[in-house]
Amino acid sequence: MIFHITIFACGAQATRPVRPATGLIQVEGKAEAATLSQIMNTANVAEWSAKMNNTFRSQSPNKSLEQVLAPFKSEQGYTFEALKKATETRDVWGALIGVPDLVELQSLDQDGDKLVSKGELMKFQGLQHRFCRNLGEVKYECKKRCTKGHDKFDGDYAYFAGTTTKTYLFKKDSYEFLNKIDRTGAGAISTAQRRAIGMGLYEVIKAGNVDGAVCELGVFHGQTSTFLWSLLTELDATDKHPLHLFDSFEGLPDCDKKMDGGMCGPGQMSVPEDKVKQSFLNRNFPVPPMHKGFFSDISDSEFPEKIAFAFIDADLYPSMLSGLQKVWPRLSKGAVVFLHDYAWEGYPGTELAAHNFLADKVERVQLPGGHDGVACNLGYLRKQ
Ligand SMILES: C[S@@+](CC[C@H](N)C(=O)[O-])C[C@H]1O[C@@H](n2cnc3c(N)ncnc32)[C@H](O)[C@@H]1O
Repeated sequence: MIFHITIFACGAQATRPVRPATGLIQVEGKAEAATLSQIMNTANVAEWSAKMNNTFRSQSPNKSLEQVLAPFKSEQGYTFEALKKATETRDVWGALIGVPDLVELQSLDQDGDKLVSKGELMKFQGLQHRFCRNLGEVKYECKKRCTKGHDKFDGDYAYFAGTTTKTYLFKKDSYEFLNKIDRTGAGAISTAQRRAIGMGLYEVIKAGNVDGAVCELGVFHGQTSTFLWSLLTELDATDKHPLHLFDSFEGLPDCDKKMDGGMCGPGQMSVPEDKVKQSFLNRNFPVPPMHKGFFSDISDSEFPEKIAFAFIDADLYPSMLSGLQKVWPRLSKGAVVFLHDYAWEGYPGTELAAHNFLADKVERVQLPGGHDGVACNLGYLRKQ
């Protein structure tokens, strides 16, 4: 974990990449957008990022590990020295890249020749049954940040309270809603994120009485969309706060090659509109208005005039930025926006997009949760 985080503020120039613990933007005063050259590290890391493009998620663990290590392979193969180099390499944020510990890598050498052959590499059992989801998260030390497990919030509040990261504490009465939240399935989000999103929705609708629609930008299979609908039904708010879904329904656009780091690829996560419709119909839910297109191409008139709540979950720098740009002018005072994957290193562009977007605004991203923990890798914004 990198603790020295008061960069990017008030004209301070970062001389080397600095990756804040979570959240670039809780620094007092006007935050200044980091320029790319401030953030980017060495060319070889950028090259490595390009090579590991898309390996973390889509491959079996050992295949993925082979691809992540490939740029470090020497002529003799995966020598201990080559493996050491891999474990010491830092990414554009200054964080160690996503490979297992050196000891673990070396232990793959079964015949003791101080060389891990491809066959030996394939014996890597992956990171199943461990807390973090993939190599990237493990190496980026989410274990340290998120020590509590999934049954409550997944991050250690005390840990975050000890950093300059600001956390948003939900009010007590929103906890009453947890029972309903926990009984309702959602999509590609963690338990803690689901809880935070549900409680945020509760606060906006019940406590805050904020006017406007509920929007999800980045829908995928629509499982979080049906989750939102269920909660709105429970809150008796489907008329006053209609749900609107926005997606290309053709998957991700191309990423910003510099802002987004390694994990991108146009067309990924493509789920056609009909499938999303079907997931509503399967539950006997009415199909909400679905707005098709890349966010930046969807006309302003298709967005609800007033928005009370938005969940933006679109992975990439250009997508998160355009999502924020579309939603922001329509947010009512007190509206809540959740940013998925915020401060998750697998999609560094999400945090950068928020940071750059908010540079000239007063609002700042916080980590949502309570004294029993925070939801990791989820940003919380409240419109002032
Ligand atoms: C991670 S998935 C969303 C997961 C979903 N929110 C859930 O909880 O299950 C990302 C979605 O964002 C969509 N997407 C990404 N960038 C987009 C953009 N610029 N415009 C429209 N859709 C986009 C993709 O098509 C994909 O369906």
